[in-house]
Amino acid sequence: MTTPDKAARHVAIIMDGNGRWAKRRHLPRAMGHRKGVEAVRELVRSLKDTPVECLTLYAFSSENWKRPEEEVDDLMNLMRKFIKSDLPEFIANDVRLHILGDWRSLAPDIVEMLEDALAQTAQGSRTLAVALNYGAHAEITQAARKAAAEGEISQESIERHLFSADLPPLDLLIRTSGEVRLSNFLLWQAAYAEMLFLDVLWPDFTPDHLTGALAEFAERERRFGGR
Ligand code: IPE
Ligand code: IPE
Ligand code: MG
Repeated sequence: MTTPDKAARHVAIIMDGNGRWAKRRHLPRAMGHRKGVEAVRELVRSLKDTPVECLTLYAFSSENWKRPEEEVDDLMNLMRKFIKSDLPEFIANDVRLHILGDWRSLAPDIVEMLEDALAQTAQGSRTLAVALNYGAHAEITQAARKAAAEGEISQESIERHLFSADLPPLDLLIRTSGEVRLSNFLLWQAAYAEMLFLDVLWPDFTPDHLTGALAEFAERERRFGGR
C-alpha cells in the first residue's frame, strides 16, 4: 500500500494503441476503440480502491480530426454510447465528470449530453476528467489570451484559465502503447509530473496496471529542482 505522502492524487493517461490492438487480431479498428472503452469503464470502477482523486484521460485530441471521417464518426458514436450507458454508474459511484478541451464545438447532441452529465455529477468526490477535442497548445493560447484580456499575464493568471484550473497538480502521466511522446497533451501541467511509458496497448490496460504504476510512482524521488 502506498503511503499517503507518496500517493498520486492526479494521474493522467494517454490511452494509445487501440488501432494496433485490433490490427494484431485482424479486427477492424472500431473493435479496438470499443475494447478501449471497456478498459476505461473497468479503470473508473477501480478508482475507489486507489488514492487517486483525479484521473484525466486523453480521449480525442484536436489533431485526431485528421483521421478518416469513418473513424472520427465511430469515436463520436462511442462517446455518445459511453455517456449514456455509464452516467448512472458515475452518479452511483460518486464520480464527478470534468472535461478539458474545446468540447463545446463538438456535435450539438454531444454537447448537450455532456452538459447534462456535468450537471448530474457535479457533487462527486472523485474526478474523471476527459480530454475531448483537446490540444495543449490551444489550451495555453486561450488561457494566455484570457489572462491578457484581464490585464495581467502571469503564471498564476494563466493557470487560472487552463482547463485544469480546478484539478489537483498533475503527479503522474502514463502513456500506453510504447510510444514515447506527449502528442500535445498537458504540456503545461506536465512540468514536474513523473512520466511512465508502458508497453501495453490501451485495450489490454487493467486496474492492476494502474496499481503497478502507482507503486512505481511511490518509489520515485521528486525534487522539483531542489536537492
Ligand atoms: C488511441 O488509439 C485512441 C485514440 C487516439 C482516439 P489509436 O487509435 O491511436 O491506436 P494506434 O496508435 O493506431 O494503435
Ligand atoms: C494521442 O494519441 C491522442 C489520444 C490518445 C487521444 P495519437 O495516436 O493520436 O498520437 P500520435 O498521433 O501517435 O502522436
Ligand atoms: Mg495512436
